[in-house]
Amino acid sequence: MAVTRRELLLGSAAGLAIAAGTSLITRRGMAAADLTLPVSGLDHPIVPGTVTRDMMSFATDGPPPVLRMRRGRPFTVDVVNNLAETTVVHWHGLRIDNAMDGVPYLTQAPIDPGQSFRYTLTPPDAGTFWYHPHCNTLEQMGRGLTGLLVVEEDEDPGFDRDLPLNIRDFRLGQDGQFIEFFRARAAARGGTLGTVSTVNWQVEPVYDLPAGGLIRLRLAVTDVTRVGLYEVTGGEAQVIALDSNPLARPLPPRGVLLAPGQRADIALRMPDSADEIVTLALRLPQGPQPIARFRPAGKSARRSLMELKPLVANPVAEPDLARAEILEFVFGWSPGGKPPVASICGTLGYTFWSINRIAWEGDTPDPMAPLAVLKQGKPYVLRLRNESPNDHPIHLHGLTFRLLRSDKREILPLLTDTALLQSGETMDVALVADNPGDWAFHCHVIEHQKTGLTGYLRVE
Ligand code: C2O
Ligand code: CU
Ligand code: CU
Repeated sequence: MAVTRRELLLGSAAGLAIAAGTSLITRRGMAAADLTLPVSGLDHPIVPGTVTRDMMSFATDGPPPVLRMRRGRPFTVDVVNNLAETTVVHWHGLRIDNAMDGVPYLTQAPIDPGQSFRYTLTPPDAGTFWYHPHCNTLEQMGRGLTGLLVVEEDEDPGFDRDLPLNIRDFRLGQDGQFIEFFRARAAARGGTLGTVSTVNWQVEPVYDLPAGGLIRLRLAVTDVTRVGLYEVTGGEAQVIALDSNPLARPLPPRGVLLAPGQRADIALRMPDSADEIVTLALRLPQGPQPIARFRPAGKSARRSLMELKPLVANPVAEPDLARAEILEFVFGWSPGGKPPVASICGTLGYTFWSINRIAWEGDTPDPMAPLAVLKQGKPYVLRLRNESPNDHPIHLHGLTFRLLRSDKREILPLLTDTALLQSGETMDVALVADNPGDWAFHCHVIEHQKTGLTGYLRVE
């Protein structure tokens, strides 16, 4: 699996230099990609009455597009780096080839300014996913580089509308301009919260949706820090999938706990009359804060949630627990390692956190040794122990795992790629190591990730 830095650099030099947004490739005789994503700087209004300067997007003129692909079909994306700094794109939750996973040095060379990289994504699972950079991650995500990715089911479940909701904060001052992306004091604790809550880059957007119609709300928390409780009030609604995996039984959309990286699919039956507004709110200590509204439009379609076809489970292998080897991971403070050295994918300059007492910020040219080596095809239980008083949404690339048990609370046996470990909690999760490669394993509170709470698992 080990690719030397030299090989990676050569690989990138052999890539194609391009002008913004053009399809260079045809000149080289290669087929055009299904999609070109220009990673670009832009100014854009977020807070009404202001224009935020120096945002970043996967588009030249607005928020990141929603990517849509089909299960099992190869989809090619040319990521074109128009930024003045290196970047790389990771497809969160997709169980794809390791070489397409978008982690600098571990799976590919970072994409230099003016360069492009072609990703071929063949998603085995349907559901709601997202994409984001894995280089200078706190700042690039902070400036806007988080987008949604939808993998369609083989069979249409029967919604009238599909509405992806990219939920995140921005850290902006009164004047609508970026303020510092983190504070060290907070990074050593729960993380630095944003100041402006948005959905699809808008403050409290209102969507007109067919009255009496069936809507699929795809919530994705792409924020760098915020762990929150979400609720939908009005209409008739049920949570039908979490982290892109269908639920055996739907859940009420009240107090849906979502950490950075996590998603929830909600089936909403819109009210019949225009004066019954549906609200999506974030539950804060001072009460629910609406973040988006849905307004019934037109004559009622009079549909019923019963008409929806249940979502089909994704083809995730079920681990044989009797044979599973237990691997232990401890997430905690840093043992007082030396401050990280500058690297091309950036550093926050601090070491606060660790996995198994090893602090690594990730995305550096000389990856540390894997935290564990798993044998391909074998079942494992990962025992995840959080010895800190803070929340850590622990994310594993390239593999889906099942939640088994927590020593602190009742949990559902969900399939996921991101498990929220709460204060002092130990959770067992299980998987079959069926996707070979080096898979990043880190906290999705990006300040934690980038101050030590990163590692990777090797499947060979
Ligand atoms: Cu969305 Cu390495 O993560
Ligand atoms: Cu990921
Ligand atoms: Cu964390």
